[in-house]
Order: sequence, then C-alpha cells, then structure tokens
Amino acid sequence: MIRFDNVTKRFDDGTLAVESLNLQMASGELTVLVGPSGCGKTTTLRMINRLDEASAGSISVDGVDIRSRPATELRRGIGYVMQHSGLFPHRTIGDNIATVPRLLGWDRRQIARRVAELIELVGLNSDLAKRYPHQLSGGQQQRVGVARALAADPPIMLMDEPFAAVDPIVRKRLQDEFLALQARLGKTIVFVTHDIDEAIRLGDRVAVFESGGRLAQYDTPEALLAAPASEFVVDFLGAEPELKRLALVSAGRAEPIPAPMIAPGADWATAQAAAASAGTDWVLVVDEQQRLTGWHRLAAWSSEQTAKPNVFSRTVTRDDSLRAVLGALVDSPLGVVPRLDAEGRFDGLLGQASLNRALA
Ligand SMILES: Nc1ncnc2c1ncn2[C@@H]1O[C@H](COP(=O)(O)OP(=O)(O)O)[C@@H](O)[C@H]1O
Ligand SMILES: [Mg+2]
Repeated sequence: MIRFDNVTKRFDDGTLAVESLNLQMASGELTVLVGPSGCGKTTTLRMINRLDEASAGSISVDGVDIRSRPATELRRGIGYVMQHSGLFPHRTIGDNIATVPRLLGWDRRQIARRVAELIELVGLNSDLAKRYPHQLSGGQQQRVGVARALAADPPIMLMDEPFAAVDPIVRKRLQDEFLALQARLGKTIVFVTHDIDEAIRLGDRVAVFESGGRLAQYDTPEALLAAPASEFVVDFLGAEPELKRLALVSAGRAEPIPAPMIAPGADWATAQAAAASAGTDWVLVVDEQQRLTGWHRLAAWSSEQTAKPNVFSRTVTRDDSLRAVLGALVDSPLGVVPRLDAEGRFDGLLGQASLNRALA
C-alpha cells in the first residue's frame, strides 16, 4: 500500500537523513521503523504525508505517486500521531480530538458523537473532554493523541514514538490496548520507535534503520531474531535474542514430547511399562475425561494403590508464550510442563526439546 522507491532525503543544510530507501508497507499491517536516534525514522514518516518532501526517488500510496495529489487532500486519509502527543495546549481535549472533523466541515452533532466515541475507544473517561492537555497525565495525553489521529477514520496512521514519554508500566498497557484496537480496526500503520522490544512486540514487520537512513534489515520480528542480517542488527537486537524469540511463539505451536500416562488406580507394573517406553522414571496420571490428576515418580511409588499423585503447580495453555513455558520448565521438578486446552483437558507435555524444535 505504501511504497518507497529509491527515496533519498537531503536537508537544505546538506544532512543526508535518508539514503536510497526501498520499502513496502502492506495494507492492514503494522510496520515498525526502529533504529537509533537520528537515523531518519521521523523523516521517513514525514515524507509519507509530505511534511517533508523527498529529494529523490518516489513514494506511492495505493499505487498513486503522492506528489500527484495535493498535500492537504493526501493528509486527510492519513492520521498522524506526533512525538510527545503534540496536542494544542490552549484547546480542550474534546476540541483537540475534533480538529480534523472540523477541518472536514462535519456538523456539530456528528463531531460531538465522534469525540465521545473516540474518548471511549482509547479508554479515557468522558469527563476529560472539557479539560486541557496540561491537566492530563502523560499516558492520558498519549491516548488523546491517538484518538485525534483516528478522528476521521483514516485508513493510514503514522505514529511517531507515541508511547515513548510514559513509564514502562503504562507503556506496556498502552501497547496491549493498542494491539487490541488494531486487531479490530485493521489500519495500515507505520509506527516509529527507538525501542527494539516495542518494535518486536507490536510489529507485523520491522524495518531496522542504521544511521544515515540506511535500511539494515526488513523482516518479521521472528525472522529478524532468528537471522539478523548484520553485526549492527545483532547489537541492536540486544541481549537474549532466544528469550525474545520464545516470547513471540505460542505454546500452541510447540510440539509435545512423549508422555508416559497411566489411568488413576493403575498398578505399578503398568506404570513401569509406560515409563520405560517413554524413557522416564515418572508417569502422568490422566483420567478418562483427559483430566490430568498429577504425576508419580516410580522410585517413590508406594505399594498402596491409593497413594495420591503429586500435583503440577504450573501448567500452560495454547495461548501462553514459549517464554512462559520456559519459566514453568525451570520451576518443574520433572523438567516438563503440561499444556491444557481451553476446557482444562491434558493437551500434551512440553519439555526442553519442544523449545529447541520451535527455535530450530
Ligand atoms: N529540518 C531538518 N534540517 C536539517 N536536518 C534535519 C532536519 N530534520 C532532521 N534532520 C537531521 O536528519 C537526521 C534524521 O533525523 P530524524 O529523521 O529526526 O531521525 P530519528 O527520527 O530517527 O531520530 C538527523 O541527523 C537530524 O539531525
Ligand atoms: Mg524521531
């Protein structure tokens, strides 16, 4: 949908901000531009709505060169969330959000309805509409910035470090809400950040920039972590890339390991045979309804048939990440973690081999 062909931006003072950039951002996807400060992310973003004009090369939106359209008309279809929210300080929150609908000449009732709807959409209290930006917390201002950009329901959103100014806990919450919102709205979003973890969490695709506006790699977060294209990308991805990869894969995609299972009340010989065939010295107890009752270690098996199995203190569901699986694994006396389905039935045993295979 948005396409850069050999785009270069050199500012009047000679600064080369972006160099020969080729990039395609798909419709309905969230593309993240990430890189160190000064590497040309903001400039790249601002060229899309022509706040900065490319010095060479061409940019098209839906196959149409953006220079063939008047900038004001182009911008109507593009929401822009500026770095540090960029709210008008002397306008109320309601008036800030209403900026674009007013420019478009909507009637007052329609604008009021849309403002109320957006305030709710971004999770703010309707009382805030009458306040001024300085009377809001950083996180609330960021939400207003997002609401304002969404006001005229543009198909494209450009977001420049929208969550950078808030503390890590608020940022995580804003990211979660933003992902849920995007899952519903399906906008084409170009999102700038200098935070690689934010890029990996949010992006369908991530463009890693090097200084001088050169593209170091453009890939899905998983591919980026699995096969970084250069030393620069390796450094930028930071420590523990394996853990970051595990966080991106759901436990539902992991391949279970063989699980020795017996029914409740089964005898020792049955348990021993089950353990031998799986190469373990323990067995799981799973009943007819596929409920996992617990586990026995053979060495500790009592001659009493009624001995109670040990209970797993941690289990995972298909929606948990493999990083959560690893956390449960290191805390498990057997070094394995049961996966349960949505109804709480046993749905496979995960072990280190499951993690290895998922990353292979
Ligand atoms: N209006 C401008 N005039 C001259 N140089 C600029 C201008 N805007 C940005 N730059 C320079 O272009 C480079 C890229 O800036 P920018 O796109 O803001 O980087 P980022 O958003 O990645 O931090 C920087 O070296 C910056 O100083
Ligand atoms: Mg910037």
